[in-house]
Amino acid sequence: MSEQTVTNPVAAEPGVDLRRRRFLTGAATVVGGAGVAAVMVPFLSYWQPSAKTRAAGAPVEVDIGKLAEGQMMTVEWRGMPIYILRRTASSVTELAALDAGLRDPSSTVDQQPKYAQNAYRARTPEVFVAVGICTHLGCAPTYRPDVAPADLGADWTGGFFCPCHGSRFDLAGRVFKNVPAPTNLLVPPYEFMNETRLIIGKDEKGEA
Ligand code: FES
Repeated sequence: MSEQTVTNPVAAEPGVDLRRRRFLTGAATVVGGAGVAAVMVPFLSYWQPSAKTRAAGAPVEVDIGKLAEGQMMTVEWRGMPIYILRRTASSVTELAALDAGLRDPSSTVDQQPKYAQNAYRARTPEVFVAVGICTHLGCAPTYRPDVAPADLGADWTGGFFCPCHGSRFDLAGRVFKNVPAPTNLLVPPYEFMNETRLIIGKDEKGEA
């Protein structure tokens, strides 16, 4: 059985290779808000398909029933880390205030399905789904929900930070100006099976 890990990215050393190695071993990660202890979630509730179906690129069903506001979990789909974040109502509201500092605030670049080409880049405001791969050179951005941390500056209101070359994304995966990453984070095809279950890699058009 694969290893289970719980990571607090605020405290973690920025070792990119280590993070990727952890991911590739099949770990599921759940992180909480700033200063809040990460919550351990049963590994098998997230990791539904067998290794065989994952290897074949099949859609992945994910139970998000225990994902609390401000927490993010990571699952694997087609060998890629998929970040699933349950945003707080206030963080959704604050997205609009960031537009002026973003490279593509309206998601005009084709980095998401049509149903995610909106102000919050998702099917619903609360649940954000993205491929956890930096659009610069492919590192894994860290989830940094903490506000104004010393290393990211007073204007940081929470988002994703790539430690490789300093790219910054907001909580909708929209890239900020003046960083190396050229585009917003990719949103994979997905849909809700019900209120607590997602399927990644499949939507009304069928499998990706
Ligand atoms: S790979 Fe993310 S900033 Fe370069």
